[in-house]
Amino acid sequence: MTTEPRPPIGIVGLGNMGAAVAHLITQHDRDVIGWEYDPAVVAEVNQRHTNERFLPGVPLSPRLRATRDVHEVFRGASIVFIALPSRFIQPTLGPVCAAGGVSPDTIVVNMAKGIDAATGLTAFQTVSALFPRNPCVMLSGPSIANEFARGEPTVVVLAGQSLTHLTQVAQVLDSRHFRTRFSHDTMGVELGGVLKNIYAIGLGLFDGLNVGSVNFRAAYLTIALEEMTLLGVAMGARAETFAYLAGLGDLLATSMSEHSHNRRLGELLSQGLSLEQIQAQMGVLPEGYNTLRVALNLAEKLHVNLSLAHGLWSVICGRYTAQQFIYSFIRNFVD
Ligand SMILES: NC(=O)c1ccc[n+]([C@@H]2O[C@H](COP(=O)([O-])OP(=O)(O)OC[C@H]3O[C@@H](n4cnc5c(N)ncnc54)[C@H](O)[C@@H]3O)[C@@H](O)[C@H]2O)c1
Repeated sequence: MTTEPRPPIGIVGLGNMGAAVAHLITQHDRDVIGWEYDPAVVAEVNQRHTNERFLPGVPLSPRLRATRDVHEVFRGASIVFIALPSRFIQPTLGPVCAAGGVSPDTIVVNMAKGIDAATGLTAFQTVSALFPRNPCVMLSGPSIANEFARGEPTVVVLAGQSLTHLTQVAQVLDSRHFRTRFSHDTMGVELGGVLKNIYAIGLGLFDGLNVGSVNFRAAYLTIALEEMTLLGVAMGARAETFAYLAGLGDLLATSMSEHSHNRRLGELLSQGLSLEQIQAQMGVLPEGYNTLRVALNLAEKLHVNLSLAHGLWSVICGRYTAQQFIYSFIRNFVD
């Protein structure tokens, strides 16, 4: 008896997250086709089955094939994962949508965590608007790519409206060390991951100033979660979503990881570097910077008070030193 070949899984972006998810899926003996912007990465993945730029030290399966043709990723794929920084989603996927031909059965899974400064749309909203005929799913939660690519135990959340689609996505991801949980609150699951990037900047400030107090960090994280929840609920999310993996879980992962780009931004601010100097050093400003600007605008429109986020913005704009921010935080919240 011959079995039907299973359709390939597509990934858009073989950066750190995309390559790690591709690696995970090929371990299920599924073929993966991944679009990548950097031609050197495409060649390396296809010829040497490694991706030293984005996922160093992880041998990749020959079942992963890389391409520079983004249309190819959608041809015949049952599921396509989007793993781009949010600002590249529209320019990369716009031409695919304009060309038509994407099957309405293809499930589109967004893994980007960001808000577009121009439109105020979250990455999931942007993806959903680009693929209005397709089922769209959000993947978020504590999922540091370097960890699960190396087999570290990881639990994430898949959010979407249909249990059937969530189950189909879970089937290509779930393994001994990687598990998914389901939610129907796409907005909450997404915003947990998006908004925590703002507060990661504060954690970087404390690292840079050697503020090691566990009491202080616990107070900071508690208030951060409260602000994330307030804004999230005002934007249509459910409060309880923030108390679970995609809110608290992701915030804790960021607070414990030394690899967050947003934390690095805070660390450099605490050293007195200007935004221009930081951009020159980091190449590109991490998503948290943009998210903070957009979140403050949204909070004003929705009458939500985000004192902590305002304090962080004052440090970024040079109105407060990092030290002043810490003492004003203690005065306002902890006394
Ligand atoms: N890395 C993680 O642990 C992790 C975990 C969860 C979610 N995410 C989210 O996944 C998304 C991607 O993050 P990452 O860490 O993989 O980023 P990365 O910096 O490792 O990779 C960036 C990707 O963007 C591509 N790119 C660069 N310039 C481009 C351009 N002009 N046009 C189109 N594509 C371009 C790169 O080639 C690469 O594929 C982000 O939204 C991030 O928040 C990352």
